[in-house]
Amino acid sequence: MATCELSPGIHSVGVLDWSMHDFHGFEARRGVSYNSYLVLDEKIALIDAVKCTFVDELLQNIASLIDPSRIDYVVANHAEPDHSSGLSAVMQAAPRAKLICTEKCRSAFDDYYREDWPYQTVKTADTLCLGKHTLQFLATPMVHWPDSMMSYLPDEKILFSMDAFGQHTAGTERFDHQLPLGLVMDEARRYYANIIMPLGAMVLKALEAAAALEITTIAPAHGLIWQKHIPAILEAYRKWASLKSDPKVVVVYDSMWGSTELMARALIDGVNGAGATARLVHLRRDGRTEAAAEILEAAALAVGTPTLHNRPMPDVAGFLSYVRSLAPVSPGKNDPRGKGRIGLAFGSHGWSGGGAQWVAQELTQIGYQLPQPVICCLYRPDQSTLQQCRQAGADLADKARQLAGK
Ligand code: FEO
Repeated sequence: MATCELSPGIHSVGVLDWSMHDFHGFEARRGVSYNSYLVLDEKIALIDAVKCTFVDELLQNIASLIDPSRIDYVVANHAEPDHSSGLSAVMQAAPRAKLICTEKCRSAFDDYYREDWPYQTVKTADTLCLGKHTLQFLATPMVHWPDSMMSYLPDEKILFSMDAFGQHTAGTERFDHQLPLGLVMDEARRYYANIIMPLGAMVLKALEAAAALEITTIAPAHGLIWQKHIPAILEAYRKWASLKSDPKVVVVYDSMWGSTELMARALIDGVNGAGATARLVHLRRDGRTEAAAEILEAAALAVGTPTLHNRPMPDVAGFLSYVRSLAPVSPGKNDPRGKGRIGLAFGSHGWSGGGAQWVAQELTQIGYQLPQPVICCLYRPDQSTLQQCRQAGADLADKARQLAGK
């Protein structure tokens, strides 16, 4: 990725990983970027490294601006290896640099890399004077890991937000105005749902802290830099972190010989007729990343499976385990976010059942309320079963609209 200047002396020097489409399970359909930023002042600071396989490219980008050995500070906002596994090469190329990070980040690095780096640990409100510019630090534990922090340049009003506000997308565009807003927000939503959703309570705290800052640029560690649409992404994060529900019903399913698919489509017909937004996700075709993105704002989730050896299809079981980890409903004790979201289990079976019933138990465990009984059919749904599905879809839509206040 070519370097570009965010404002005088502040450069984007990160790299693109065009071929990364499986980011520890996240289906990154457009690839990934590992963003890194260079602040040129009397002192020179590099904000975040990149994945080790791309560190040579990072160092070349830096070398196109300054000799990397002149770097005074390497700021590590986060310990996860997509940003830190290139640190060893960076610290070798910048032998006089101090490594700036939180105490928890240092501890994580000790366990990951076991290197004797010259650390300078920081906490919220600590500052680092670079000359004309001063970096200010804001610890944001669990956004994304316990070690995470953001860095802020008050004079330029730039927030280096680490994973927060990122998108997994590779492209030559660097700023949010260079692609259609709908596309950028869709990628941001997909990223939030799959990576940040279970951390919403901490996101709300980080947003509260960030509200005190004047921000004209949000420079995340992945994807496009926000400048034009900062109010839109901040508002979206507030909504997503609050688990506010839209009048939307998502039907997620797998099918063996088409029977559960017929039921899923009948459910969708019922939702459509009742005026709520409907989304149909075939797990093996569309993938769990897409399914998670769809359920982020959905008031209702219907999950269908055939029975395979008295159990659900493996992709359905894996998906529900994943949803449980994402915690889209009342994620903590006395945490009302997402409360009242509703679910439905359905599916076909042959000589023995069990798959759809297992789904019902899982949905309940996750926190979804199941106002309707499990809908099952033997081998192939008849017209009566399909009508039952259409009615169930309409009922889910009505309840979803009530929950969303629409
Ligand atoms: Fe992009 Fe949590 O690392």
